Amino acid sequence: MGPWPAPVPAEKEILVRVEATALNRADILQREGKYPPPPGESPILGLEMAGTVVETGKGVSKWRPGARVCGLLGGGGYAEYAVIHEDMALPFPGGLDAVQAAAIPEAFLTAFQSLHRLARLQPGELVLIHAGASGVGTAAIQLARAMGARAVATASAAKQAACLALGAEKAIDYRHEDFESALMDHTNGEGVDVIVDCIGAPYFQPNLNLLRTDGRLVLLAMMGGAKVDQFNLLPLLRKRLQITGSTLRNRSLEYKIALSRELFRFAWPLFETGRLKPVADSVFDWRDAADAHRYMEANRNVGKVVLRVG
Ligand SMILES: NC(=O)c1ccc[n+]([C@@H]2O[C@H](COP(=O)([O-])OP(=O)(O)OC[C@H]3O[C@@H](n4cnc5c(N)ncnc54)[C@H](OP(=O)(O)O)[C@@H]3O)[C@@H](O)[C@H]2O)c1
Repeated sequence: MGPWPAPVPAEKEILVRVEATALNRADILQREGKYPPPPGESPILGLEMAGTVVETGKGVSKWRPGARVCGLLGGGGYAEYAVIHEDMALPFPGGLDAVQAAAIPEAFLTAFQSLHRLARLQPGELVLIHAGASGVGTAAIQLARAMGARAVATASAAKQAACLALGAEKAIDYRHEDFESALMDHTNGEGVDVIVDCIGAPYFQPNLNLLRTDGRLVLLAMMGGAKVDQFNLLPLLRKRLQITGSTLRNRSLEYKIALSRELFRFAWPLFETGRLKPVADSVFDWRDAADAHRYMEANRNVGKVVLRVG
């Protein structure tokens, strides 16, 4: 892909000079041609950004040039300039820099959507976060705790300490331990109320077995595979389980605006006091995006991999 013209903000959009963007697992799929951008979105990679407003559309009332904003994009974050609807843009939480602000949108919006909107997580409930050290996982552990719930996580051995430091009460090395029996032991056989899963097929039956009555499973991805050969439906009926599959990128603009506002109201005061922290694992120069992709593909990150411009 050669040079690309800067996007022009539509009536309700702002043009942002990108200071930092962050990687998402979906970027790897898009790069491989397995996750094409939705119609009308930039073909350039990048689902989030943080930067400075340089121009506003004619109908914009919320932002002036010079304001520093972060937000979710349908694409185009790995570029010098990006456009975003004025209501999707969020101010940098007080005291945070562009690298930290770029580590917030996709991870925290996905985790908040999963826990709050989809699973309706209640104070005192226990939630299992698979891939607890991923960008989404590190946000989900913190948000679950901030919502008054308890969290447990799966992660490879070297990442367990990070999950515990973020507020998980137990971290399971899924490569060497059976997470279903480890969590049944941990909960005296009661299981968990909510599971946020991005592994898919190999975890499906143990997830159903682990959920308590009225438990909720939110399925976000299928990193371990999509096809389940056989599974036992009985726990689904007996325990009145709910299973929700979800995406974020192809949701309507109205939905994403409402979700961004809800996250802003809940999380920004907590970012400002330090109760919530964006987890930026590493920062690459944006010209080294290929190295950053290789780093993520090797599963080396705990939290977000950020690309800094300039
Ligand atoms: N549906 C949605 O709305 C939505 C939105 C955002 C993200 N997602 C999905 O959420 C997941 C996390 O995204 P992210 O960008 O935060 O990822 P990430 O930071 O790249 O982290 C992914 C981690 O998952 C673990 N992992 C990878 N393959 C695994 C496997 N087969 N079995 C078990 N664990 C595995 C690895 O950690 P360990 O070292 O612990 O194995 C890896 O570091 C991705 O699958 C992504 O596609 C979905």
